[in-house]
Amino acid sequence: MRLSERVSRMKPSATMAMDAKAKDMVAEGKDVLSFALGEPDFPTPPDVCEAGIQAIRGGHTKYTPASGTVRLKKAICAAAERDLGLTVTPAEICVGNGAKHILADIFGAMVNPGDHVILVAPYWVSYADLIELFDGTFTAVEAPADRDFVPDIAAIEAAVTDRTIAVLINSPSNPSGGVFAQEDIAALADVAVRRNLTIISDEIYKHILFDGRAHFSPAMVSEEARKRTIIVDGVSKTYSMTGWRIGWSIAPADFTKGLGTLQSQMTSNPNSIAQEAAADALLGPQDAVEAMRAEFGQRRDVIVGLLNAIPGVSCRRPGGAFYAFPDVSSYFGKTLRGRKIETSTDMSMYLLDEGLVSTVPGDAFGVTDNIRLSFACSTEDIRRGCERIAEALAG
Ligand SMILES: Cc1ncc(COP(=O)(O)O)c(C=O)c1O
Repeated sequence: MRLSERVSRMKPSATMAMDAKAKDMVAEGKDVLSFALGEPDFPTPPDVCEAGIQAIRGGHTKYTPASGTVRLKKAICAAAERDLGLTVTPAEICVGNGAKHILADIFGAMVNPGDHVILVAPYWVSYADLIELFDGTFTAVEAPADRDFVPDIAAIEAAVTDRTIAVLINSPSNPSGGVFAQEDIAALADVAVRRNLTIISDEIYKHILFDGRAHFSPAMVSEEARKRTIIVDGVSKTYSMTGWRIGWSIAPADFTKGLGTLQSQMTSNPNSIAQEAAADALLGPQDAVEAMRAEFGQRRDVIVGLLNAIPGVSCRRPGGAFYAFPDVSSYFGKTLRGRKIETSTDMSMYLLDEGLVSTVPGDAFGVTDNIRLSFACSTEDIRRGCERIAEALAG
């Protein structure tokens, strides 16, 4: 049966594809260690699970308003006040089935054919495909390792064309762990105001920051910047609620209304039970968030140390999120166990086949030299995985 051009040009999510291949190998009885998927390994906190059970018992099992319940929107407003110091109203919030769905809503509501969006490379796999799904185009401005994966804001401004409508940033970044400093965010907001751009700020990892860093959103720069900012967030990473599928945007009310209209035709409301649990997650005790963050911080130190001890591998210390993004390009052009390694995809495939370790190639994130390892797994697995990588790279 014929597929539309729109769908034909989409690539399946590389992270999910890599994880699927690793799972197939596990099903064949191979002991694969997975560093591929961006999913915290902790259970959803018990009080949040209990809130979900109570939601079912309490009859929260029917359609809700398309853009989310008033209770969850009010909880998001309270969290925005607590975490960002922003006073937000429910009319500025659209809740969807995860941040990925919200991003699809945003591009659907914003992009006309030929419109241009600026990304920062390395960028999260889905941005590019979602922009192209709605016939938009994009340019990726490099965030180099020697700038700790934060782009030069002047380079972003230089990439603006007369078709540019938005800049998308993701701090802390998946896959690089790069974190924008407050001055960078302020400089970006200044560009957005002068060049009449929207900033889409994907803040899904904002609670996973290390070494005393504090999160700073473009919406916090000034009232003018806030009017141009769409914050994207959700419960997946902060509360280890990936399967519950709740994400949201905070944006000016007129744009948010459009998101709600789009969503009302595409999916109706996000899951009613998950909305109740998400509200409890946001309003309840936040100790589990800090406990997970601290654990990620310790694992980061372990994985970065072990990767840097492997000859030819060089890894920066990520400032946030739960990914290490080592440069493995010193192996490009070399032959290991009879296999020529030319690209990061070759490297990820080699490590999977020969080291039984699944990673994601930098190619999937718009850069050539790196591979991504999620450290959302036990320290024991990190140690075993790095040993396997070292052995495989020794040839
Ligand atoms: C940068 C980034 N944004 C958005 C998402 C989507 O999160 P979810 O759809 O689970 O809310 C992810 C998930 O991996 C991500 O890494």
